Amino acid sequence: MRKEKEIFKIYKEVFDLSTEKTIYKLSNDGYIDYFIGPISTGKEANVFLAKNPEGESIAVKIYRIETSNFKNMWKYIAGDERFSNVKKRRRDIVFAWARKEFKNLELAKRAKASAPEPIACRNNVLVMEFIGTNNIPAPIAKIAPPKKPETWFKKIFKDIKRLYQKANLVHGDLSEYNILNNKEKPVLIDFGQGVLFDHPNANQMLMNDVKNIANWLKKLGLKLPSIDELFKFVVGKNGRI
Ligand SMILES: Nc1ncnc2c1ncn2[C@@H]1O[C@H](COP(=O)(O)OP(=O)(O)OP(=O)(O)O)[C@@H](O)[C@H]1O
Ligand SMILES: [Mg+2]
Repeated sequence: MRKEKEIFKIYKEVFDLSTEKTIYKLSNDGYIDYFIGPISTGKEANVFLAKNPEGESIAVKIYRIETSNFKNMWKYIAGDERFSNVKKRRRDIVFAWARKEFKNLELAKRAKASAPEPIACRNNVLVMEFIGTNNIPAPIAKIAPPKKPETWFKKIFKDIKRLYQKANLVHGDLSEYNILNNKEKPVLIDFGQGVLFDHPNANQMLMNDVKNIANWLKKLGLKLPSIDELFKFVVGKNGRI
């Protein structure tokens, strides 16, 4: 397929009529002024850099209604008491997913974890703080690993602990792909699949997060406590690492 055609196809998948209306409403409500351009195309969502009426940069994450894996989303939503009345229809599930990410970001900020500030959420569109400088998004940690992994180790594990203990939240998809390197500070992103700690999968998801981060940091040359000790640090009331 020619490149322009490909781009057009992506835009049509993202900006369907109902999404256009949603963006129009968000713009009327003063959240979005105009779009600058795409930052990323993911499995379920596209992220754009945009400006608000004050001229500040914002990140707009749009969950695609037609081409997202709503069956997989359902697995996480079904066990979440916050969304017990969501119907098992594609559109409703995608909307609930976006709202879930928004609420999880609110919880994360309240727990003082490092994450983008949530600004607004309507249907499948989430507006949040843009992490980056001068219209350039901060790179993911996979591409821009930290200069001081030891400092990141402490910061990230403190954040995982804060999420768990202050917000009762498990991120559930934590890895070097969902951490941005913002001027050598780690910022956790992509909270859509995050669940509360009483969700049936919460423990397994937390264990995966701990393993992913520990294995990645080990590859960067750090010597770390065992996975069990790290897990205990996160869920325990006290303890140091
Ligand atoms: N607030 C933000 N500020 C700057 N860049 C962001 C922000 N949020 C996301 N990004 C960029 O967009 C990319 C994709 O975002 P995110 O990880 O949230 O979604 P995703 O991985 O596409 O999700 P999914 O795979 O579930 O569709 C990130 O890797 C990052 O480069
Ligand atoms: Mg991601």
